[in-house]
Amino acid sequence: MSHAADRTLLIPFRSNLLPQIFCDTVVVGSGVAGLRTAIGLGDQHDVILIAKEAIDLSNTSWAQGGIAAALAPHDTVDNHIADTLEAGAGLCEPDVVRVLVEQGAEEVSQLLTWGMRVDRDPAGAPAMGLEGGHHHHRILHTDGDATGSELARCLIERVRTLPKLRIFDRCFAIDVLVDTRRQQRRAAGIVSWHPRYGLQIIWAKSVVVATGGSGQLWRETSNPRVATGDGVAMAWRAGATLADLEFMQFHPTTLYVAGAPRHLISEAVRGEGAILVDRKGHSIMDGVDDRGSLATRDVVSRAIMQHLAATGESHVLLDARAMGGEGFRKRFPGLARMLGGFGLDPGHDLIPVHPAAHYCVGGVRTDRNGRTDLDNLYACGEVAATGVHGANRLASNSLLEGLVFGARVAEAILHDDAPQAGPFTLVHEVEQQDRGELDLSDIRSSLRSAMWRNMGVERTGTRLQDVLGMFDFWNRYAMDRVFENPEGWEVQNMLTVGRLATQAALTRTESRGTHGRADFPAVDSNLCGHLLWRYGQSGHAWASVGALADVRAARP
Ligand code: SIN
Repeated sequence: MSHAADRTLLIPFRSNLLPQIFCDTVVVGSGVAGLRTAIGLGDQHDVILIAKEAIDLSNTSWAQGGIAAALAPHDTVDNHIADTLEAGAGLCEPDVVRVLVEQGAEEVSQLLTWGMRVDRDPAGAPAMGLEGGHHHHRILHTDGDATGSELARCLIERVRTLPKLRIFDRCFAIDVLVDTRRQQRRAAGIVSWHPRYGLQIIWAKSVVVATGGSGQLWRETSNPRVATGDGVAMAWRAGATLADLEFMQFHPTTLYVAGAPRHLISEAVRGEGAILVDRKGHSIMDGVDDRGSLATRDVVSRAIMQHLAATGESHVLLDARAMGGEGFRKRFPGLARMLGGFGLDPGHDLIPVHPAAHYCVGGVRTDRNGRTDLDNLYACGEVAATGVHGANRLASNSLLEGLVFGARVAEAILHDDAPQAGPFTLVHEVEQQDRGELDLSDIRSSLRSAMWRNMGVERTGTRLQDVLGMFDFWNRYAMDRVFENPEGWEVQNMLTVGRLATQAALTRTESRGTHGRADFPAVDSNLCGHLLWRYGQSGHAWASVGALADVRAARP
């Protein structure tokens, strides 16, 4: 019987009473990482690809700016590595960064041969944009600001040609099934739910978590509604180690118009010369950083929040007028259309902007091939913590990460060639609580507000303690319930991930990369390591830089 505190699965079930499906690999998530994994497994491998909603609803499809790759004649792999390491503020795993950048350039070249369209310069070579933290133009983009949807289109078309691939869309992966019959625990599949078919057991030789991030935990976010941290929570309950959860990257420029979603205003707009100003037209970044509005995201977001705190204003302004209305529409047609919908013409108007949660740096700890420390469980893309981003991801390195580590996970799975662990009888019971109705949307919005206020761009120990107290309170009455649909499971996942991220932020008593502590404003060289968390182990462990990539060695 499982209680709230030791919940390893969210629902009670008996595996032999549920429909059973078999495959070689189940890939949970349909963003770039999941799609690239499926493609890498090839046409002889029996894959089930799970999408929580439609296959093309992911952070990948929403990505604007582009894909960073050292492909321009003036650029080198070493330049790109240097910029990635600098942004990562001492916590990047240098070997893994080299893998990302070297293999990334090959992956991107391959994408072009697969038919991905990119914008071209007059000579016909891929046009290279600039974004914060890059010292060279190296961002490939499509239709100016629609890179993610073109990448998703290209990869989805390709996976659809795989003869043995099955796509389960609008399917919610609830938990990883763990085979505990042998001394060495191993993943054996997942339990999932579909509105038409109900609960199902999917037995698989390998399970890949590629579920993306957890931006929805923050009230202000650039992420789609599916980004609720499900993969991190699932892997945690299965017993895999998590790392670097305190590092949530805040994007400096999302549209700030009352009632509108926080539409991303791509950093590429600043790459084309737009600057951040206050109401009087003074540059926000003057005297803050020599790189001005193109400093790394952590620096720019912090400068904006400090400016807002000092002035009491609600937002700052992005001045892109130097591009001219026509120039803006040509380079950023999607953004121009979206802004036009709010009556804003970037040729004449200043664009109201505000930072928002954008990219989860931490997640499920993996080695450079996407292996977690639970046998047969792999993770790639935003959900994974490979150490490649250190304490702050460099702009446009995320699609690249999905491509590279999706491909590497596929190779690792083919190499490991694990035997099928299931079917076996798995009985999980949960002590039912009768506590009456719960307003899930109220908890969800309270949690998101608390995270934004207390776990946002600038944090303090006192406020982190406050939000931890809130999580303890919410957990007491929400975690020991049994829900029957995704609305409840998402809230339980958000509570799990939010609490862990807050604990991590409280533990890291320094400011580094995306993690800013007003009460510990400096970098502490003694804390130059990764914070690890593991289910069933009280507290955390530290891993030094260099150690993250070797997950198996760290197995207790
Ligand atoms: C952007 O276009 O600013 C987002 C790109 C990224 O997150 O790397």
